[in-house]
Amino acid sequence: MAKAKNNSRSCSCALFFGFIVVVVSLSSSFVRGDGEVDGVDLTKGASFIFGDSLVDAGNNNYLPTLSRANIKPNGIDFKATGGTPTGRYTNGRTIGDIIGEELGQPDYAVPFLAPNSTGKAVLYGVNYASGGGGVLNATGRIFVNRLSMDIQVDYFNITRKQIDKLLGASKAKDYLGKKSIFSVTIGANDFLNNYMLPVLSIGARISETPDAFIDDMISHLRNQLTRLYQLDARKFVIGNVGPIGCIPYQKTINQLDQDQCVDLPNKLAKQYNNRLKGLLTELNQNLPGSTFVYANVYDLVMELITNYNKYGFTTASRACCGNGGQFAGIIPCGPTSSMCDDRSKHVFWDPYHPSEAANLLLAKQLLDGEKKYVSPMNLRQLRDL
Ligand SMILES: *[C@@H]1O[C@H](CO)[C@@H](O)[C@H](O)[C@H]1NC(C)=O
Ligand SMILES: *[C@@H]1O[C@H](CO)[C@@H](O)[C@H](O)[C@H]1NC(C)=O
Ligand SMILES: *[C@@H]1O[C@H](CO)[C@@H](O)[C@H](O)[C@H]1NC(C)=O
Repeated sequence: MAKAKNNSRSCSCALFFGFIVVVVSLSSSFVRGDGEVDGVDLTKGASFIFGDSLVDAGNNNYLPTLSRANIKPNGIDFKATGGTPTGRYTNGRTIGDIIGEELGQPDYAVPFLAPNSTGKAVLYGVNYASGGGGVLNATGRIFVNRLSMDIQVDYFNITRKQIDKLLGASKAKDYLGKKSIFSVTIGANDFLNNYMLPVLSIGARISETPDAFIDDMISHLRNQLTRLYQLDARKFVIGNVGPIGCIPYQKTINQLDQDQCVDLPNKLAKQYNNRLKGLLTELNQNLPGSTFVYANVYDLVMELITNYNKYGFTTASRACCGNGGQFAGIIPCGPTSSMCDDRSKHVFWDPYHPSEAANLLLAKQLLDGEKKYVSPMNLRQLRDL
């Protein structure tokens, strides 16, 4: 995460932002009188969030599943509930929460399966993400239940109809195309809880090369993103798969040193990420009016892990909450886990997921960062398109 100060750049930024202010104040005069429905300010925009446990905000609380985070001490730093667990797989906010806040959205996107994801609440955005979910339907079977990406898109199709009812067809289409950001954070489980899982997928792993498995993922994702486009989504941000060979779980079960990572999962992630980048270029060209932003989570997390002390962390290998092995990386975080003294000094909250402190740094780069981390534009630029 480059933090170099560049004075000549900040001068041109000031000009650039001056220009944006003029454009925004012009365009808001067009929506005046049109910008509010039932007390919901439509000018603030919405987030529709798809993905896995990195961004699940409580959907799995409503599923019969082994993957749950609505147990203490998860959420201990989540201010909106005073530290009560919500189903988020971290100590505080997820990247999705932080980005929504920073883009000016008045409320967190409600989990689709929560009872209050009805009526005008859906106009602030909806969260479909599910711990254990993947691009492929078979991913996460070990957890018994989870929402895979096909189902998450089916659910958005339900929300889509509610938005038509609330706003009328033409305003709904406009709101989704111009004021809504569709984020997709998925793929890690397709490797961790499908392709690489020793028991459940041994057959698949023997019969399918990494190339063939990744081909399959890309063709499913192409279909899923195209379906969202058909439902009038236009502004997308797609996260790539992080360095899953560096999570405390992988480091612990492979008995690595603190500065080592497991090769195979990182290699698979990089191979997939390369294909994902190509897919987004293709979709940007083929789907008129769309913008697909590639979020390079892999390099961002790798930078945090490699230079953790530069960012104020004391460890990037040991989970804050967890048990087992040299990195507390085997038993998931729960009421009987040991917990670190200072949660803001750990990159990882639990054996799999970043802490809120890490999420804040990652979100900041996606919002305002440079092209090597978020391309062809960052999320503030995407919002203001
Ligand atoms: C939905 O309910 C949750 C849990 O009670 C609450 O935290 C959240 O603020 C509610 N969201 C909306 C938009 O009503
Ligand atoms: C995955 O599940 C969805 C929803 O149940 C279904 O529509 C889709 O056909 C399935 N895809 C595959 C490849 O089995
Ligand atoms: C959305 O649902 C309707 C049925 O209500 C179906 O005809 C349509 O194909 C679905 N669209 C997508 C993109 O899944």
